[in-house]
Amino acid sequence: MERIQTALAKARAARERKLEAVGQPSSAKSALSGHWLDLAKLSLDMGVLDSNRIIAHNSTPGSASFDVMRTNLLRTLRLNGWTRVAVTSPTAGCGKSTVTLNLAFSLARLADIKILVVELDLRHPSMVRILGARPGQNFAGMLKGARPDLSQIRRWGKNLAFAISSNAFESPAELLSASRTADMIDEIEAMLRPDVILFDMSPMLVNDDAIAFLDQVDCALMVAAAEETTATEVERCGKELAKRTQVLGVVLNKCRYLDRNAGRAYPE
Ligand SMILES: Nc1ncnc2c1ncn2[C@@H]1O[C@H](COP(=O)(O)OP(=O)(O)OP(=O)(O)O)[C@@H](O)[C@H]1O
Ligand SMILES: [Mg+2]
Repeated sequence: MERIQTALAKARAARERKLEAVGQPSSAKSALSGHWLDLAKLSLDMGVLDSNRIIAHNSTPGSASFDVMRTNLLRTLRLNGWTRVAVTSPTAGCGKSTVTLNLAFSLARLADIKILVVELDLRHPSMVRILGARPGQNFAGMLKGARPDLSQIRRWGKNLAFAISSNAFESPAELLSASRTADMIDEIEAMLRPDVILFDMSPMLVNDDAIAFLDQVDCALMVAAAEETTATEVERCGKELAKRTQVLGVVLNKCRYLDRNAGRAYPE
């Protein structure tokens, strides 16, 4: 565990040096300026969002569990100087994209922070559909290119941006593990200076796509589906994650029976 912490600290320090090198000191974070304000606008269909269980854009009793999650997450990120959070699960369909987006919209209700959602479940991109966005964005295609192209990232409202893709990618593990991809993400972070980057990843136990990218994140959240994900799957996924990053906790999703006071499980 100590080795991982040291490796993560080194990786973050290297990234900070890159940010300083492009003239974007940490203090530039949160400012709504420059590249961030230049991002093209993304139009979303709020009716589609609601029907896809993305509800945290408004403060309602339904969003309360995501608000608690966001507060715990922000505290952990700030305490550690982290920005990058992977959201993954043991198997497909546990609710990674739903949790990622609700967490993002909940965070976006805090006006003084900027949030970037990056869709890296490249074999099965779903965010264009879930968000009711117009097809056309191709962040995955951009990653294959020579340099970051911010026209592939769109902003909704003042402080929430999406790097999403309309098209699927056949075998993304090589792309996700490439040092060029790591550089590209560093450069995008340096230009946009988000306070939080949420990476919607593929499931851990199905292929090596998520594993290929985990060196690039500061921490990870695991989403498990109540009555679907087994204890063994949670344990295997947790072990795989812990080899590569800091595991913040397990989000128990799809609970049919909720303690009125408990909401979803959330990381401490
Ligand atoms: N809390 C929930 N209660 C009921 N259904 C849910 C819940 N969360 C997500 N779902 C539904 O489960 C399905 C899978 O959700 P989602 O796409 O977020 O999962 P995923 O883990 O991202 O899937 P994939 O691995 O295919 O990317 C969707 O139909 C979604 O609406
Ligand atoms: Mg998904």
